[in-house]
Amino acid sequence: MAVLVTGGAGFIGSHTVVELIEANREVIIIDNFSNSKPEVLNRIEKITGKRPKLYACDLLDLEATRKVFAENEIDSVIHFAGLKAVGESCAQPLRYYSHNFDATFNLIRAMVEYGVGTIVFSSSATVYGSPKTVPIREDFPLSTTNPYGETKLVIERMLKDMCDAGELKSVSILRYFNPIGAHESGLIGEDPKGVPNNLLPYISQTAIGKRDKLHVFGDDYPTHDGTGVRDYIHVVDLAQAHLAALDRAMAVTGTEYYNVGTGVGYSVLDIVKAFEKASGKKVPYVIDPRRPGDIAECYADPTLAREKLGWSAKFDIERMCKDADRWQTMNPDGYTD
Ligand code: WQD
Repeated sequence: MAVLVTGGAGFIGSHTVVELIEANREVIIIDNFSNSKPEVLNRIEKITGKRPKLYACDLLDLEATRKVFAENEIDSVIHFAGLKAVGESCAQPLRYYSHNFDATFNLIRAMVEYGVGTIVFSSSATVYGSPKTVPIREDFPLSTTNPYGETKLVIERMLKDMCDAGELKSVSILRYFNPIGAHESGLIGEDPKGVPNNLLPYISQTAIGKRDKLHVFGDDYPTHDGTGVRDYIHVVDLAQAHLAALDRAMAVTGTEYYNVGTGVGYSVLDIVKAFEKASGKKVPYVIDPRRPGDIAECYADPTLAREKLGWSAKFDIERMCKDADRWQTMNPDGYTD
């Protein structure tokens, strides 16, 4: 029986596929390569010695999605595929709502038609909006500040409704904090299109001279050094959380929610210092005004994942930075076909 991984050629998807293969799971990937490259499959094969079956199609194509289920014995799904840039979602809300909802509607329709009842969904800490206190627990109030976050929250609620109605058996919703780093081989990693929105790829590109300096978005937040604090988690730790969530979801029924973070917050300047120490490279920076929509602090209380999934993050910030630097140094222009 196979695990279907949507968006399996993406940053978190590819790292999860590697961990699944190394745990002797049969993996099938659906990916439309809108935010990833076919080269990722070659890298997965280099790391694991196995090449997962690939359907290079779009979940927006219902017939193509049905075909994946018709042609394979699938017992569970990990759903990563979706548009995920916060800023872009504010500029193109209709594109985000239609893409992320329609893709998920088609996926769930095919699951129900083929009797696949178990799904692990890639959600985000962005569903907590601007939390009043930290660390964040799963029972905190939910609110969103952008269309991307709204699509995550609505899909969470839709999956729960389908589970309550018995159309799905088991739903595990993983709310990510800030995934960074790369597989220790340096063969797979974060390959953002164009100018990186996120902190770590911007830092790693600055460190190799691809960017002239990092722009720190604000140093007047109520934090220990005035810069934004986040919960950075190694992407391999995050991948392992998916395997733990999948094992539990196969064994239980109902909908569960887990914050997947380390429980430790680091500021932007903490990360700059950690990256310089881990890589031996300088990261010049300038302080700019705050970025609209950013919050001061966001980090997880990961107790529930530890207690119910038996999972906790293993890698520290030095390892995250070393692995990110190795990937960037080995792949200065990301995946080149
Ligand atoms: C981190 C910190 C910035 C870039 C976003 C999404 C979230 C998830 C992860 C999808 C903040 C500062 C950043 C830069 C900077 N994505 N920063 N200069 O905003 O916490 O979370 O990505 O699931 O949903 O909201 O991540 O890496 O963009 O920012 O100073 O060039 O780094 O202000 O404090 P964020 P980020």
